[in-house]
Amino acid sequence: LENGLARTPPMGWLAWERFRCNTDCVNDPDNCISERLFMQMADLLVSEGYAAAGYEYINVDDCWLAKTRDASGRLQADPERFPSGMKALGNYIHSKGLKFGIYEDYGNYTCAGYPGILGYLELDANTFAEWNVDYVKLDGCYSHPVDMDRGYPEFGYYLNRTGRPMLYSCSWPVYQIYSGIEPNYTSIKSSCNIWRNFDDIQDSWQSVQTIIDYYGENQDAIVPHAGPGHWNDPDMLIVGNFGLSYEQSKSQFALWAIWASPLLMSVDLRTIKPDYKAIIQNRKIIAVNQDILGIQGRRIYKDRGIEIWARPITPVVRSDFSYAIVFLNRRTDGTPSEVSVINRELGLTHEAGYIVEDLYTNKDYGILTPDDKITVDVNPSGCVMLRFTVASAFQKTRLP
Ligand code: DGJ
Repeated sequence: LENGLARTPPMGWLAWERFRCNTDCVNDPDNCISERLFMQMADLLVSEGYAAAGYEYINVDDCWLAKTRDASGRLQADPERFPSGMKALGNYIHSKGLKFGIYEDYGNYTCAGYPGILGYLELDANTFAEWNVDYVKLDGCYSHPVDMDRGYPEFGYYLNRTGRPMLYSCSWPVYQIYSGIEPNYTSIKSSCNIWRNFDDIQDSWQSVQTIIDYYGENQDAIVPHAGPGHWNDPDMLIVGNFGLSYEQSKSQFALWAIWASPLLMSVDLRTIKPDYKAIIQNRKIIAVNQDILGIQGRRIYKDRGIEIWARPITPVVRSDFSYAIVFLNRRTDGTPSEVSVINRELGLTHEAGYIVEDLYTNKDYGILTPDDKITVDVNPSGCVMLRFTVASAFQKTRLP
């Protein structure tokens, strides 16, 4: 969607995966979906350095609404859990220099059974603009996937007509795929800034692996649609929660960077452990994710549990790209696997060679030519992520 937003993949925090639809603020006040939770996360996004690393959106998901609209048909937040109202929450988030995301559903109800937008598209778009919303995630429960080809663009039209730029996150393709309809990505990418095409992420390596497989097996269908303003969304980062080991967390973050995915962490920023925070704040990997070319990477090798993923990035010299490369080990034998490959076989053919470094360990490999061999040890369910930067981009021209 060409609305000036998401020129690089959006970065922020999103409630759903970690906090779900916990509405019990009486017995669980610290973890229920309430204005307090979002204000705390906004505070921590700034005070713990996430904002400085590029994370900017604080996104509400399902279960923020009251069960009914107000007397004039407008959406309203649950009055117990959001006593100050959504406009005030948005103001708070903005006062921290951050952006405010909200959730709705193109159906009669949201997935959790709160009022959907069907029948109220224009009114709801105007309400969001009035609340100074910066980002709208539109889910697809309780609606007919065939109607989405009309309905998602129609709501996008009303969002646009408010005059307030709002990033538009769509679930349109995933619901169509579930119903056996082939998504029209040409239309989707002209209407949406980001879109989900696969299952909800759960708190497990198993779940992350199903996403990795989906993105590998369907890369010819989805990769060409990613670019500045329009991105595939493989769902939230679960780094720092209960289900992933340290190695697996590094693998999730590395692949989300290779795929130019939105970086929407769903984690409790009050309790995240330092090692995991360091993964999410790894500047070099964030820079790969945010590379301005916006080319989504691909799986270029897969055999016996070893995968190699590659993403073309800047700097580009003539027509030769620099690359981020991820070596992923999905084997379960308990010792690292050695992977060795001639650079040329990875598509690294620039004759001046590449400056090579490991983006997790900062190990410096010096300058390697296309005919050099790179050898890495990859931990079980972990990865090694390297950056190959075209060397001639940095060679000084000699003065006469
Ligand atoms: C389905 C979506 O895919 C999830 O990300 C989340 O928004 C839930 N619905 C909320 O009910």
